[in-house]
Amino acid sequence: MLDLLTLTNFKAFAQQELRLAPFTLLTGLNSSGKSSVLQALALLRQSYESGDLAPVGGRVAGLLLNEELVQLGTGQDVRHEAYNDSTGPHIGLAVEGDGATARWTAVYEREADHLELLPSEAQDPRDPSELLPSLFGPGFQYLKADRVSPQVSYPRSHHAVTTRGFLGAHGEHTVNYLRTHQDEPVVGEALRLPDAASATLLAQTEAWMQRLCPGVRLVAEDIHGTDAVRLGYHFGSGFSESNQYRPTNVGFGLTYVLPIVVACLAARPGSLVLLENPEAHLHPQGQTWMAYLACAAAASGAQIVMETHSDHVLNGLRLQVKNDRLAADGTAVHYFRRKGQTTEVVSPVIGPEGTLSEWPEGFFDEWENSLDQLLD
Ligand SMILES: Nc1ncnc2c1ncn2[C@@H]1O[C@H](COP(=O)(O)OP(=O)(O)O)[C@@H](O)[C@H]1O
Ligand SMILES: [Mg+2]
Repeated sequence: MLDLLTLTNFKAFAQQELRLAPFTLLTGLNSSGKSSVLQALALLRQSYESGDLAPVGGRVAGLLLNEELVQLGTGQDVRHEAYNDSTGPHIGLAVEGDGATARWTAVYEREADHLELLPSEAQDPRDPSELLPSLFGPGFQYLKADRVSPQVSYPRSHHAVTTRGFLGAHGEHTVNYLRTHQDEPVVGEALRLPDAASATLLAQTEAWMQRLCPGVRLVAEDIHGTDAVRLGYHFGSGFSESNQYRPTNVGFGLTYVLPIVVACLAARPGSLVLLENPEAHLHPQGQTWMAYLACAAAASGAQIVMETHSDHVLNGLRLQVKNDRLAADGTAVHYFRRKGQTTEVVSPVIGPEGTLSEWPEGFFDEWENSLDQLLD
């Protein structure tokens, strides 16, 4: 598990430490720096996967800004605009976790999209995947806010879903992942719903999806003779079972949330799951269930870092803590707000009863603000 992320001169942050817990919630106004935290982790991951973080054969180690997971631009886009002498001119990322600490310092170059890393004397000689398996090992998922929309067919990539076990940064490999892994059991006991037909990934995915849409059933299958797969929905069972519908003829929300559900259910102890706005297109009760699902993944040993605007997700997390489904110290909440050109972070602490230690101004207070005006 990752315990601490330190960002230096990275986008909206001059110098920022962030404690990471089994379930970390990133909240705050639009454009306050939440996604940048996920991007920092994704940047390290894609640099490692491309062989640039720990290169062999005389290649120069570097951060690769534009790859599969994030496309951050050039040095100028990434370095904090208001950097000053106290932090120096370079971009720094440091991660503590899995019993190790790793630091990367990238040399600023305005137009470069490969930022060379300074050789660090203190750097552990082990391969990054041994040093920080949570970040660089298997089980990593990163689902961005812009997920693939409902489609008639989806790509079929053996490499993505079997070799890497990856759903795609937009969830584009989810249907093929579900098709390939549907009969495998869900590992985390807390993730298994007792009313599901069985413990398999497909049955549990259906059961969690039924919390969002009662009666929904799923089919993930190949399209014979093509390199594509398809997703089908049907509703009800037995005599009242509906025809199979294609995703484009079923509400947007169901298909949009499917990658999030599969990412949580497929998570194993040691998996790192980064989720951007999982609440998008979900009704309020569904958003609470989404928090329950992510809590169950965290309680099963995975690590969730989630960006959200949803007070239902926050309250769902607090309720799971109150109901002893997740330890209070297994949570971290960070509220981001802009202060001039940099972002500052306030971190209210969730207590064992689900209470919050503080409510900074602007932190999920819109209900109260509106109610005050309505009651005035
Ligand atoms: N190089 C940079 N220097 C300073 N601030 C930056 C830089 N790049 C982006 N930002 C700031 O970061 C913010 C966007 O961050 P982002 O993580 O996308 O926000 P959120 O996810 O909270 O909506 C914007 O306010 C933007 O001004
Ligand atoms: Mg964002």
